[in-house]
Amino acid sequence: MKLGKHTLSKPVIMAPMAGITDKAFREIICLLGGKYTVTEMISDKALLHNNSKTIQMLNLLGEAEPRIVQIFGSEPDSMAEAAKRVVEHGADIIDLNMGCPTPKIVKNGEGAALLRNIPLAEEIARQVVKAVDIPVTAKIRLGWNSSEINAPELAGRLEAVGISMVTVHARTREQFYSGKADWKYINSIRKKIKIPLIGNGDITSPQDASRMIELTGCDGVMIGRSALGNPWLIGRTQGFLENGELKELEPDNKEKLRILLLHFEKILKYKGKKIGVNEIRKHASWYFKGIRNAADYRNEIMKSHDPEEIKTIFRKVFTE
Ligand SMILES: Cc1cc2nc3c(=O)[nH]c(=O)nc-3n(C[C@H](O)[C@H](O)[C@H](O)COP(=O)(O)O)c2cc1C
Repeated sequence: MKLGKHTLSKPVIMAPMAGITDKAFREIICLLGGKYTVTEMISDKALLHNNSKTIQMLNLLGEAEPRIVQIFGSEPDSMAEAAKRVVEHGADIIDLNMGCPTPKIVKNGEGAALLRNIPLAEEIARQVVKAVDIPVTAKIRLGWNSSEINAPELAGRLEAVGISMVTVHARTREQFYSGKADWKYINSIRKKIKIPLIGNGDITSPQDASRMIELTGCDGVMIGRSALGNPWLIGRTQGFLENGELKELEPDNKEKLRILLLHFEKILKYKGKKIGVNEIRKHASWYFKGIRNAADYRNEIMKSHDPEEIKTIFRKVFTE
C-alpha cells in the first residue's frame, strides 16, 4: 500500500500509547525489527504554546521513515497550525486522534468525542489535509456506544476530505479497553472505503494478525497492549506477515535482560534519572511477566532511586 511517497508492505504498526510510545520505546521496537511506530498523542494547544514536555515528544531525530506523529484537538484552525509545526519537526505522516476515550479529553470535545460530531471531525480532517503536503491519517473507534456504531460513515467522510489511511480500534468509546474488540466492523469499513485500512484491537500474536487481515480485508494491523514488556512482538509479526517466518515465541531471559537494560539506558538518556527511574518501573513490571517471585522484585525496584541498583536487580531477575 502507498501513503504519499511511502510504500508500506503489510504494515504492523506499534500503536500510539500515551506514556509509553516515547522515543526510547520507539527505538526499541525498531531495533527488534518493527518498521512502523507512532508518537504518543500530542495536544495541538500544548504544541502551539511551546510546552517544553510537548516539544520533547516531537524529537524524531535519527528515527527511520516514515515518522508518524499523532495529534489531538477539537478546533480545525489550531489543529491545522499544529500540523504545520509537526511537519517542521520532521514528521512524514500526521495521524489524527479520534478515539481517545479518557473523560478529560472527551470533555473538551477531543478524541472520541469526535465520533459523535462527524461534521467537526470532517472539518478538522479537511483543514489539516489542506495545511500540509504530507499524508494525513486518522485513528477512530467503532462509535460512541453499541447503539451508535458510525465508524463506516465516519471513515467514508474522512476519505472524501482527503484522509489517506484509517486505523480502527474495533471497540466503542463506552467500552474503553474492556470487552472484546469486534472485528466484523472492520470489514464493514473495508466495504465502505478504498484508502488503506488498518485493523486494531486484541491482537496478541502473529497468527492473530494474519487472521484479522483474512477475516476483515484490512491492509495491515496495529498492536498495542500485547507489545508491553514484549517489544519483540511487532518485528516478529511483521516478519510473519511478510514472509511467513515464525520465530520461537518467547525470547530467552538473556535477551529479555539485554533489551530491558537497553530500554532503561535510552529512557535515562532522553528523560534523565528522576523520570527515567519512575518510567522504567512501569515497563519492568511488564517485562517481568512470567518470572517467579516477580512481585518481590517489583517491590525492590519501587524502593530504589538509583539506576545502578535497579540494573543489578534486573540482572538478578533474569539470571536467577
Ligand atoms: C495506556 C494506553 C495509552 C494509549 N494511548 C493512545 C494514544 O495516545 N493515542 C491513540 O490513538 N490510542 C491510544 N491508546 C489506544 C491504543 O493505541 C490501541 O488502540 C488500543 O490499546 C487497542 O489495541 P490493543 O488491543 O492491541 O491494545 C492507548 C491505549 C492504552 C492502553
